[in-house]
Amino acid sequence: MDAIQNYIDHNKKRFLEELLELLRIPSVSARPEHKEDMHEAAKWIQRNMIIAGVDKAEIYETDGHPVVYGEKIIDDSKPTILVYGHYDVQPAEPLELWDSPPFEPVIKETRLHPEGAIFARGSADDKGQFFMHVKAFEAMNATNQLPCNVKFMIEGEEEVGSDHLELFCRENAEMLSCDVILISDTSVIANDVPSITTGLRGLSYVEVEVTGPNKDLHSGVYGGGVANPINVLCQMIASLKDDDNRITVDGFYDKVVELDKKEREAVNSAPFDLGEYMDELQVDEVRGETGYTTIERTSTRPTLDVNGMWGGYTGEGAKTVLPSKAYAKISMRLVPNQDPDEITELFTKHFLKIAPKSVKVEVKPHHGGHPVVTPIDTPEYKAAHEAMKRAYGREPIPVRGGGSIPIVALFEEVLNVKTVLMGFGLDSDDIHSPNEHYGLFNFYKGIETIPEYFKNYAELKQG
Ligand code: BES
Ligand code: MN
Ligand code: MN
Repeated sequence: MDAIQNYIDHNKKRFLEELLELLRIPSVSARPEHKEDMHEAAKWIQRNMIIAGVDKAEIYETDGHPVVYGEKIIDDSKPTILVYGHYDVQPAEPLELWDSPPFEPVIKETRLHPEGAIFARGSADDKGQFFMHVKAFEAMNATNQLPCNVKFMIEGEEEVGSDHLELFCRENAEMLSCDVILISDTSVIANDVPSITTGLRGLSYVEVEVTGPNKDLHSGVYGGGVANPINVLCQMIASLKDDDNRITVDGFYDKVVELDKKEREAVNSAPFDLGEYMDELQVDEVRGETGYTTIERTSTRPTLDVNGMWGGYTGEGAKTVLPSKAYAKISMRLVPNQDPDEITELFTKHFLKIAPKSVKVEVKPHHGGHPVVTPIDTPEYKAAHEAMKRAYGREPIPVRGGGSIPIVALFEEVLNVKTVLMGFGLDSDDIHSPNEHYGLFNFYKGIETIPEYFKNYAELKQG
């Protein structure tokens, strides 16, 4: 381990420079105009994996964005760790809210990152995090201390629902066969409070369209006479939650697994300061489902949120118009044992049912994903616990995460293995937001922790 640490220390500047190079490629999966950038990012990763010492690294074209696959097989009888990550990033807009351009990384200190943080889209989600694995691998390999086989699958469609990865996994199940899936795409509680994510919420995402009159109308001439689809949509959306902030969609909670008292105590024993949380977000009150704590509301309970809503005139000044159409994008975060397809269907039925006759409603499903919970009494998890404990000098706390990585449940099914979610970001790193950043401390701590994981896992697995 000393040799590995030594290697990291000697190469840490280059590791960072390489990451900055990758961050300069605007690999926004949602935007067709970035299609070429997606290929460029994939090629960059392929090249870097080869430099890091893999036996082979290949780009697999899909009907969507390419997948980069690399591997180093040292011994077929040794366990195999499959590292998953994503090189695609969320759109950077609104650009005017960034203090520096999203694809021109700069390093600045912040209150929570006194050692400095890299400001760029994708720095924490997930380029900075999956890249730690490539560099940790390089360090293990260069010092002849790779204790088991490693495979990398770095995809380009996570942020748009991993539509084509299912087929890729099914078609290449043999190539991807492994003993554990290791992912760094989540957070720790704080840099001095390590934690390991033991679950992710599922997702059902829909877009709704409400149509009133067949064309935009003068809001004076027709106003008051016909339904305004925006007003109606607002009423419909408002009715989706009751006074206790419970979701009113018929059947929504039917399959939700309620935690028992002990499990709830464990969830709530994670350090959490509500005052600090409110200060950080500048809100005077939190709001959520009655009877549950903020930790529960954001991890073990399902939710429904409007992600965007539009229609009518939104330009400068005033235009008196009674619009023909109104739209909203709605996400529902799911917990065990809710099924995304079922929930989408329940939502659709409910939404059509509550629509007044004065409008026509259409519900279009987008992507979805199943929730996952990872057990903590396994060698896979214990290896992570010990690795973090060693690297941070403190016992990591298991915490259920609120975000989603839709493909994880599918991997577990297709590859028949468990996942370990050993992420190193902070919730306050502003992923998906302007000024996304990733701490240098976090980047280097991750690179140090990963070889510990490999070593522990190989030992635990081989007895
Ligand atoms: N890395 C995130 C998920 C995440 C972040 C989990 C922090 C836990 C803590 C991932 O890239 C992501 O953003 N997923 C999307 C889902 C996707 C279908 C757009 C999400 O959760 O909204
Ligand atoms: Mn991510
Ligand atoms: Mn993301």
